[in-house]
This record gives sequence, C-alpha cells and structure tokens, in this order.
Amino acid sequence: MAELLSTKFHETLPEKYVRPETQRPLFSEVITGTKIPIIDLKSPVDQIISQIAHASQSYGFFQVVNHGIPDELLLKVMAIAIEFFRLPAEEKEKLYTDDPTKKVRLSTSFNVARETVHNWRDYLRMHCYPLEKFMPEWPSKPDLFKEVISTYCKEVRQLGMKLLGAISLSLGLEEDYIKEALGEQEQHMAVNFYPQCPEPELTYGLPAHTDPNALTILLQDPEVAGLHVLKDGKWIAVDPLPGALVINIGDQLQALSNGRYKSVWHRAVVNSSKERLSVASFLCPSNSALVSPAKKLTEITPPVYRDYTYDEYYKKFWSRNLDQEHCLELFKS
Ligand code: OGA
Ligand code: NI
Repeated sequence: MAELLSTKFHETLPEKYVRPETQRPLFSEVITGTKIPIIDLKSPVDQIISQIAHASQSYGFFQVVNHGIPDELLLKVMAIAIEFFRLPAEEKEKLYTDDPTKKVRLSTSFNVARETVHNWRDYLRMHCYPLEKFMPEWPSKPDLFKEVISTYCKEVRQLGMKLLGAISLSLGLEEDYIKEALGEQEQHMAVNFYPQCPEPELTYGLPAHTDPNALTILLQDPEVAGLHVLKDGKWIAVDPLPGALVINIGDQLQALSNGRYKSVWHRAVVNSSKERLSVASFLCPSNSALVSPAKKLTEITPPVYRDYTYDEYYKKFWSRNLDQEHCLELFKS
C-alpha cells in the first residue's frame, strides 16, 4: 500500500516521485501574467454566451466571478478541507484505499496501482449526488465536514447546470440540450492536497491530463498558485483570483460539441514553500448515457467521434495512465 504524503514531513524527494529529465515541469518556460478569460455571470446574457463560446473554443478554460456562491462558503470549504488533511494519521488511514472503484476514498498520487512515477498529491474523492445516498459514507471528521461540503455541493450543482445551459446556447443548441443528453448527471468531488515539496522541479502534483467528465468547477487555493493550462503548445499559469471559480470543458463536452469545444491539457505543479489545496467538482454523464456529437453540429462537420456510453469511456480512462494520449483519441469515428 502506498503511503499518504500528508502524514509526514519530507526532507528529500523520494526516488519514485522523480520524473525522467524530459518530462519535468520546466518552470522557466511557463507563461505568467496572461490570463484565461474571466466571465462575469452578472453581465447581459448575450455577452456571457459569446464569452463562453470564445473561451471554450480557444482555451477550454475560463474563470467565473459573480457566480452566486458566497465567498464565505468558499472560505469555509477551504478551511474544512485543510482541517481534514491535518487529521491524525490513524484517522486518515481508515479511509485510505488504492481502489479507484470506491465511491468515497482517500488516496494519493493518481492511480498508484498502475503508474510508474508517483505524483506529489493526496486526495479525497467522493460521489456527491444524490447527497442522501453518499453523504453517510463521507468522512465524519472534522465535525462540520459533511455540513459544509454538502452545502457547497448543492450550490456547485446549481451553478454547473446554469453553465451547461449557457454552453448549450453558445453552441446554437436548445438550452436544455446538454442536460437532456447527459441524463441524470453524477457529481464527484476531488479534494486535492499538495504538500510542500522538497524538489518541485522534478515532479508534479498532477501531471498533464484532460478531465474525463463533462464539466469541471475548480475552487483553487486563493493564495498559492499551481494550475497550468496548455495553450498553443505553451503552459500558462492560472494564478488564483480570490472568489472566482475555474471552469473547464471536459472530454464529454468536447465529444458532444463535435470537437468545437476543447478539453485541454492541464496540470498541477507543487512548490517548496507552501502546501496547496484545490477542490474540483466534476459533473459527469449518467453511466448509461449515450454520448454522441450533437446532430445539429454534425450537419456542419461530419461526426468526429463515435457514439459510446459514459460507462465505457470512464472504464477506459481509469485503465490508463494519466499522461498518455488524449483518451478521446480512442473514440474517433
Ligand atoms: C483535477 C485538476 C487541478 C488543480 O483535479 O482534475 O486538474 O489545480 N486539478 O488541483
Ligand atoms: Ni483536471
């Protein structure tokens, strides 16, 4: 069994976290100071929709402000998440598993059973919808964990559905198109904890990957940067914007939009002075949903992807290593 990073202090980077020289982050080549689009959800609807269209085609990422989730709640989520990772080792060990099929699990790296090099991350992954079904299995410590996280989950789902409506409209589809196509969507959460790392230039928190789900809503640490997004062959640092949420298009929306919107490569790097936290919420099609490029879009460009069920896709995703080719490449028509 692999060991959680957050249960002890590391003075040196263990060998199994060291990437081969050609695969390291190269911090000096990362672009800082440019921004992925920031969309104000209080703007006029037409403006929001055209901004979403542009961001989803050119970046696959954007940030939203005035999204309706109170700042105070975002701060509470961050605080409870950090408290969780500071629980005593014995408490965390009870939740630890390497089995990616478990619906509530505390684990480390990405897919420890498969990967050859590990990542400098611990994470708590939980199913979140319907709440009544999964909440009983969530951690019962810290005391307020379930209360704070469930409140956030409801808010995030509402925001996600609103965004899916706007994304549908921005593709020229009916507002409900995506919601209907994806069925009763699942909602998963990954609470990512990236401890201080003795040699951040040799490893990753999360190596380059695309998200296998439909839409991701990421709450970043308001103080510590670490997310990079690939744009035109270069890595762009997404510096934290307190109160904002980072949105990205996942593989399923790339397929459904017939390749018009991009599920882009992104990664998380670590640093030697501060731990970093992020909370990713994933909206996913129901397992039985048949994912296919929207007919209205294939009248313009022939289908790029074949039809498949999300169940098939998800199994394929977890059977691979993170930094391989884009998983969608395996579903081309
Ligand atoms: C993820 C992810 C980025 C981050 O959890 O899929 O890309 O900054 N996280 O933690
Ligand atoms: Ni991701």
